[in-house]
Order: sequence, then C-alpha cells, then structure tokens
Amino acid sequence: MLDVPKSADKSYADGKILQSVADGVGVITFNNPDKRNAMSIEMWDGLGSALIELRDDPAVRVVIMTGGGDKAFMSGADISQFEKNRHNAQASEEYGKRSDAQRALLAHYPKPTIACIRGFCLGGGMQIAMLSDIRIAAENSQFGIPAAKLGIAYGYEGLNHLVSLVGPSWARLLLYTGMRIDSAEALRIGLVDRVIPDAELWDATSEIARTISGNAPLAIQAAKITIAQVLRDPDQRDMAAIKAIGTACMDSEDFREGRRAFMDKRKPRFTGR
Ligand code: COA
Repeated sequence: MLDVPKSADKSYADGKILQSVADGVGVITFNNPDKRNAMSIEMWDGLGSALIELRDDPAVRVVIMTGGGDKAFMSGADISQFEKNRHNAQASEEYGKRSDAQRALLAHYPKPTIACIRGFCLGGGMQIAMLSDIRIAAENSQFGIPAAKLGIAYGYEGLNHLVSLVGPSWARLLLYTGMRIDSAEALRIGLVDRVIPDAELWDATSEIARTISGNAPLAIQAAKITIAQVLRDPDQRDMAAIKAIGTACMDSEDFREGRRAFMDKRKPRFTGR
C-alpha cells in the first residue's frame, strides 16, 4: 500500500506544492494547510511544473492530487493576492492566463488523474477536482463555489465541467447561493464518485491508483481519449484519434501479454507497448 507522502521527491512554490512517485503512482500535494491549501499564483505555476514532470516520467502511470493537512483539499485561489493581482478585469485576465495554463495541462493530461479530497474543496479546488478523471472524497468533505460571495465570475471551463457532472439545476443552486454541500450530497448529485470514511481515504484512493497502474496503459489511454471525445459536440469529435488508439491497443505487446496471462492463469505484466 502506498503511504501518504510524508516527504517529497521535489517541491515548488517554497514547499507549497509537493511531488512524489512510488509504485507507478505520482502524487501532487497542495501544501498550504495554514490557509486551507489556498492556491497562490506561485502554487499554480508549481502545480504546472509537477504535472509536466509526472506526465513525462515513464515510471508514472497515474497521478493523485491531494491536500496537505486534514482540513482541506483546496480552499480555492489565495484571496489575499486578489487586491494586488486580480483587482479588476485587466489584472484578472493576466492572473487567469497563468492559472488557466495549468488547468489546460490537467484538462488534456494523457495519464489518469485522481482527486483525493478531504475537508474543504472550494472554488478553484472544485475546478481541480472536476478536471480530474476520478473524485474520491472523505466523509468529512465539503464542496462549494463561493464566487457569488466574492463577486467573481466562475468562468466557462469550470461551469462546463460542473454542468456535465451535476446538471444545470444543481449548478445554478450552487452558484447562485455559494452554499456548501457535504460529501453525501456530493455523491448523490454525481459530483464525486465514491465517499470513504476519513481514516480510510488514502488507502482506498491509493488502492484504486495501484489498480490503474497495474493495468494496460494503452487500454487506459484508449478509454481516456474515447470518453473525452464522447463529451465533445458530435461535429467536433476526433474519431480518427479513437481509431488510432484502438489500433495501437490491438497491435500492442500488452494485448498479447494480457491474453496469454489470462490463459496461463497468472498476473499480466504490462509495459505500455
Ligand atoms: N485565500 C486566502 N486565505 C484563505 C483562504 C483563501 N481561499 N481560505 C482560507 N484562508 C485562510 C483564512 O484567511 C485564515 O487565515 P488566518 O489564520 O490568517 O486568519 C486561515 O486560512 C484559516 O481559515 P479559517 O476561515 O479561519 O478556517 P475555517 O476552517 O473556519 O474555514 C474555509 C475554512 C475554507 C471555509 C474558509 O476559510 C473560507 O471560506 N475560505 C474562502 C474560500 C473561498 O472563498 N474560496 C474561493 C476563492 S476564489
């Protein structure tokens, strides 16, 4: 079983973004617990660097994102920076470009991603969670988008994901009120995939990650690419990309290994080729 990383292989933003790898699983920790893991602009940059490094590391087959401490996944953007960096539309556009670039990385990430959520998951934290492929939450989690309490617009990408997960009506209720919902409600409306007792969250999440990392990488890529295309408008779908990854799977060494291992009644060893 993977341990919750106690120390990092690498860190960014003065230790507020941590990165580690074990057993084919990359872990990124938002590590600003005194501020409930609020994300400064430097942390957004650090998140991007960690995502790129784990993306390009062939030993990494899946990435978990989680929050440091036991109170929060992420409380959103660091509001204390807004007066300087995000005080009007022009400043906000500049600010947005930096954090948008990291979110775009996540949106087009080639490897599976899991948000491991404990405590508060708010604002930009919801966006990171929604951009992840899978959301596993502790029972003590709370979710919300308090944009209307701050007077900011949440933006197209974030709402696109929210509406596709929970539908337009819940999206309106959450956005108009800025209310927080608990993990049971989040599970019921489809915002998270699984809710786990607090003490078991990490073990349960790392078990899912280890299962993914033991499966055939090309087959997972095929699922990821195809599901992403299903979510697009029909006339925008890249059917050629779906065909190409399907062909790569069927011609792969891993497919041969998978069927032989099944016949030999042994565990397959997949290489991603
Ligand atoms: N940006 C900057 N600082 C934040 C923050 C954020 N998004 N979220 C929390 N903090 C800071 C608080 O100011 C406080 O700092 P202090 O110790 O110097 O006073 C510290 O983190 C602890 O927060 P506190 O509110 O005392 O803890 P709590 O457990 O009672 O509540 C939250 C936690 C997350 C519910 C609450 O802090 C909150 O609502 N944060 C803002 C969330 C938000 O609006 N996010 C959207 C940003 S776009």
